[in-house]
Amino acid sequence: MTKLKQLAMLLAGFLMLSACDNHQKETLELSSPDKQNQLTVGIDNEGKVFYLVSRNQQTVLDTSYLGWTLKTANLQKGFEMVDASTDHKKEQWEAPWGERKQHLNEYNELTLNLQQGDRKVQLAFRAFDDGVAFRYEIPAVSLEDSLFLMEEHTQFNFKQDLSAWWIHANYDTYEQLYKHSPLSEVKDASTPITFESADGKLAASIHEAALTDFAEMMLYKEADNPLCLRSVLTPWPDKVKVRAKGTLKSPWRTLQLADNAAGLVMSDMILNLNEPSKITDTSWIQPMKYVGVWWGMHIGHQTWTMGPRHGATTKHALEYIDFAAANNIQAVLFEGWNTGWDKWGEKDAFDHITPYADFDLDKVAAYCKEKGIALIMHNETGGDIPSYEALMDKAFAKYRKLGAEGVKTGYAGGIMPRGHYHHGQFMVRHYRKVVELAAKYHLMLDVHEPIKDTGIRRTWPNMMTREGVRGMEWNGWSDGNPPSHHLIIPFTRGLGGPIDYTPGIFDLKYERYNDRVAWNTTAQVMGEARIHTTLSKQLALFVTLYSPLQMASDMIENYEGHPAFQFIRDVPADWDDTKLLDAKIGEHMVTARRKGTNWYVGGATADNAHTFEMDFSFLPEGKKYQATLYADSEETNLESNPGTYRIEKLTVDRQTKLSIPCTKSGGFAISILAE
Ligand code: NOJ
Ligand code: CA
Repeated sequence: MTKLKQLAMLLAGFLMLSACDNHQKETLELSSPDKQNQLTVGIDNEGKVFYLVSRNQQTVLDTSYLGWTLKTANLQKGFEMVDASTDHKKEQWEAPWGERKQHLNEYNELTLNLQQGDRKVQLAFRAFDDGVAFRYEIPAVSLEDSLFLMEEHTQFNFKQDLSAWWIHANYDTYEQLYKHSPLSEVKDASTPITFESADGKLAASIHEAALTDFAEMMLYKEADNPLCLRSVLTPWPDKVKVRAKGTLKSPWRTLQLADNAAGLVMSDMILNLNEPSKITDTSWIQPMKYVGVWWGMHIGHQTWTMGPRHGATTKHALEYIDFAAANNIQAVLFEGWNTGWDKWGEKDAFDHITPYADFDLDKVAAYCKEKGIALIMHNETGGDIPSYEALMDKAFAKYRKLGAEGVKTGYAGGIMPRGHYHHGQFMVRHYRKVVELAAKYHLMLDVHEPIKDTGIRRTWPNMMTREGVRGMEWNGWSDGNPPSHHLIIPFTRGLGGPIDYTPGIFDLKYERYNDRVAWNTTAQVMGEARIHTTLSKQLALFVTLYSPLQMASDMIENYEGHPAFQFIRDVPADWDDTKLLDAKIGEHMVTARRKGTNWYVGGATADNAHTFEMDFSFLPEGKKYQATLYADSEETNLESNPGTYRIEKLTVDRQTKLSIPCTKSGGFAISILAE
């Protein structure tokens, strides 16, 4: 009897031994609790480790190999199975905040111990109802104190060509427009990358979970197979990909699987693969809406630097605090409050402790306290990590003393020391250091130019939101984000976690700011810079784009005289439940979210007008609600009249059906308040 057969006989019911085919030895199989997803793992005649994935008896990933190149060993073949064990886990856990609070973490697990000479590799596979995941651990051999991973050779070898939504692999940025093409035409991609089958019956996404001390995984196409993607890791300056002491432990490589795109958004697998919270008392962590001095700089109307057009002055700050207090906005952010902006790009440019002379930080912080408004401090680092790491403890201690609740960090610029990248292990470690330090000082975090989200908010719930997307700012100084962008990112980037997109611009063409000078980009000079949505779609984004720190990003004067601002006043930043009522990637979507007994709905279109047939059957039986609909009107037109909208009040219940016509890049928002 082979070792594998012996093992299989010992293992539980969800693990089976299957027959050999011509080039493979016996394989072990693991299925998800609902039996829909099936993982097959084996070692072939050359000792190469491989896996396959199927859903509902249809192969999704065909034979896909795993392997590793260490500085001191080639671990791509010659493996033997030492032993295997299985486990089943089912736990319910509650998140302090999120798209929903209750999470079910249930999976079957297979752990394999492999050996190649004196090298050991442990592989863990998990099969969930919403996908499969695996990770590896490679311990150092005796006398070796450090491990150097030069490359990971993980394949994702799809059985059929699929429709794919993706951005290019990049060591430094995710701020790109998504492409939509057949998988066979993808040469390289960042993750999450999202797929759909031609018959619409399968949706899938490759990503990673719990990226804590590793380089990020990107995907490159195998030269000889247009359907096979393989992992590539962002390097250190010396080309090493990952350094480890003792044991090299990878993040989870994930393949989310669902029957449709909405199923991917509803999946909790990425969160479930992260460790439980390390913060026991989370009472200081509160989702919030915020306003701030920000957009004015991006359109060139104000400056971060001190001078006649300085945005972050004491006067402006007090006005924003008053506005927040009067409008059910819980927090404020002031960019350009600290010295150093005139030296942006230079070494040691930013001082995150000293305010500009026209920004009285003590007074601003005291006024926030008086008005019950949270203060989010801004720390642009310009990518200068040594300088920031030298300052941040002192800065965070000061913010805590002032009573500030949050920090928005930023890494705009090449990483210093040069040769490091935003997505390499050095930076993954840095981002983590900041999260942990922020937790120590009870500060919530919003990270711009971040490492991608891999679900660490479960472990560190003060890691609220991050950018890592082509956000609103691009509409200030480039040709902007096209109508389909907002209908793609919830199904791609959004699968990683919350997005600080910063919706809510009402002055969509911002033509009144004819004093704009800042960036001088072609779009600005040609007068083409604008927001490519209607105003109603801006409202919808407060629901369709999830962020527990959600910015109403326009200058407060642009909200004046707008009855539609009532929706932003009302909409929460935290949810008890979420449902996707309509989801066509890149085309249209409708999201409904519940807070207590109230519901909020956002619907958005992309390149085509669309009439939404709203069906309120998601509401509970026997209850009536007062609903307010904000939607594109008959006059609304993306090009000529994007700011027009209609407001309608109506009583709704579970039986209500409503046709809502929306224009190109338009949308609607509804607040549904229990009577
Ligand atoms: C880029 C960030 O995404 C943006 O929000 C910020 O205003 C600028 N950097 C300046 O820090
Ligand atoms: Ca940015």
